[in-house]
Amino acid sequence: MKVVKKLNEMSKISSSLITKGFVLGLVPTMGDLHEGHLSLVRLAKSQCQKLIMSIFVNPTQFGPREDFKKYPRDFEGDYSKAIKEGVDYIFLPTDEEMYGTDYKTFVEVSKLGSIMCGRSRPGHFKGVCTVVLKLFNIIKPNRAYFGQKDYQQVVIIKKMVEDLNLSVDIVSCPTIREKDGLALSSRNKYLSTEERKSAAELYRQLNLAAEMIGGGERDLGKIEKIITGNLKKVKHIKKVDYFNLRDNVSLKELKHAGVSGQKILAATAVWVGGTRLIDNIIIKIE
Ligand code: PAJ
Repeated sequence: MKVVKKLNEMSKISSSLITKGFVLGLVPTMGDLHEGHLSLVRLAKSQCQKLIMSIFVNPTQFGPREDFKKYPRDFEGDYSKAIKEGVDYIFLPTDEEMYGTDYKTFVEVSKLGSIMCGRSRPGHFKGVCTVVLKLFNIIKPNRAYFGQKDYQQVVIIKKMVEDLNLSVDIVSCPTIREKDGLALSSRNKYLSTEERKSAAELYRQLNLAAEMIGGGERDLGKIEKIITGNLKKVKHIKKVDYFNLRDNVSLKELKHAGVSGQKILAATAVWVGGTRLIDNIIIKIE
């Protein structure tokens, strides 16, 4: 496994792999790798001939009062996990390498980027799209792998790929969870033991929404209200940014559940103590 820090070198390596006819897979990450990231790597490994993982804590997707500085960084740990999984290249650029000193150009997917997480994190998806597009341009992968854990992120990236005519296949991968249902996340490290217990409530409440729909409730506004109320009552949950039931493709708000076969995205973002956690599930109407 080779670690590449320079953008030009990464581009050259990539071009030569493409010339040789390899199918290139890219797994973009911010490091501090856990089983969620590694599940993306495993799927990518099974579908591609050469695998590049980027590790870059992208400053442009963090707001001024967010956790950019304290975001967990553990390159040694990441290196040994990546090598075990058979990653071929780690692309590890510096901030300077990616953005220089006079960076000016950003990519934004309008509307989709300003709802849900975009409402509470203005500019977040603009930073995500910009860095992902830069990675696509540098590496030119055939396929890029993203987790459904960040459902809105996948929808937005797919839209950017469609709108900008990019020739990369976006593959979305299922959410990996702890035994009690908590979705794996680098930010789970911030939680105290007590907060960690409360964090499992996110998944429970998402499933409760599914049960309500399964039980015949069709008024989605009513379910949103009940679940938001339940979440607010959980010990250590300081704030509910949103609990939404939306169309799983367009992310449009839904008032009523419809016909059999319809898929509804149930998604939430809450503050457990000082840590913002997100989770979602897809509910299929039977
Ligand atoms: P990061 O949070 O490091 O996540 C990297 C990838 O791993 C994302 O596609 C994310 O959805 C996926 N992932 C995280 N937790 C997961 C879990 N529990 N199960 C399955 N997949 C999981 O997302 C980012 O980084 C950044 O925004 C990035 C796309 C790299 C752009 O900077």
